[in-house]
Amino acid sequence: MNFSFCLKTEARFGPGVAATLPQFVEKRGYQRVGVILDSGLRQNSHAQELIGGLRGVVKDLKLVENAAAEPTYDYLDEFRKSFDASLDLMVGIGGGSTLDLTKAVSVLATNPRPAISYRGFDLIENPGIPVVAIPTTAGTGSEVTPNAVFTDAKERRKLGINTALYVPVLALLDPYLTLSCPRSVTVSAGMDALVHAVESYVARASTPVSRMFSREAFRILLPNLPAVVERPDDLEARSAMQLGAFYAIIALMNAGGGLTGALSYPLGVLFKVPHGLAGGIFLAKVSRYNAEHGAHQYGDFYDLLDGLPNLLVLHERALAVCDILDRLAGRLGLPSSLEAFGVRETDLDVLAEQTMLLSGAIQQNPAEVTVADIRKILGDLA
Ligand SMILES: [Fe+2]
Repeated sequence: MNFSFCLKTEARFGPGVAATLPQFVEKRGYQRVGVILDSGLRQNSHAQELIGGLRGVVKDLKLVENAAAEPTYDYLDEFRKSFDASLDLMVGIGGGSTLDLTKAVSVLATNPRPAISYRGFDLIENPGIPVVAIPTTAGTGSEVTPNAVFTDAKERRKLGINTALYVPVLALLDPYLTLSCPRSVTVSAGMDALVHAVESYVARASTPVSRMFSREAFRILLPNLPAVVERPDDLEARSAMQLGAFYAIIALMNAGGGLTGALSYPLGVLFKVPHGLAGGIFLAKVSRYNAEHGAHQYGDFYDLLDGLPNLLVLHERALAVCDILDRLAGRLGLPSSLEAFGVRETDLDVLAEQTMLLSGAIQQNPAEVTVADIRKILGDLA
């Protein structure tokens, strides 16, 4: 049982915790700060209060809004021009895309080539500006990961700039900042977190520590995702979602994902489906495929849920979990067919081939999959 476990970011959690940022900045002596703010939060009182507090303790604050939900490399190269290496700190306030953008900008300030030349893993050479990440959605986990995803508009694929050099020094997980998150984003980010929890648990490289985080993430996320969608002002449910999402990304970061995550990428690039929503559509189907091909460990999730009938056989519990995931997708109003995104039968071969190219995730999937298996899963949803 050999494994390693990694979490590089100091994470502060709880309602109101964002207010500790000015103190952190002062303590470290940061004077020149760049802030990237999700444009949807321009009027948000919690975000404004946060920026106001920051202004009070620094000499120079440069604020730029991000409006891109799925930033491209061209957008990133334009965006980086607003920030340079003279800054002491970059602060990202927003959803996963805004945090990805903040992380990438922080290293591009000290690595001068075009952004796309750093696409891939560990190609960034020089350390960047330190980053503080303040998520306003509960799901993606970008606030602690060494990944930032961008779309290559020419090649029509998503492959990010991945490096440990921009991993945030501090993540402020403040549920107040997620209260205003709109329904569609709450669903998409929440499903993203659930996919992280489930896929990391069954991933081939999962470890006892990562599985502990996966299980707890699942236990928290499953009841709270519908709760937060139905009661968006419920601070307790928002807090639970943020905690569950945090556990889920710790698990994913240490174990890897699988086929569900892989399937979401081509659907995102070719049909503009948000990452979490795309994963959510595939989660039950992929889980069932895996469970039917020997991955009985999905059944462990069953034991974490209250009020369910006793099922003695692990395989039965695994299939019951797939049914539960199916029902959740229905309750959240996720489309049951890819047609809803304009996908036609003739597109399925390309989607299957593009998914197969994501070999890292495919290899982590607990069951073997061929391009024909993926085509079949897509066909069932067409
Ligand atoms: Fe994800």
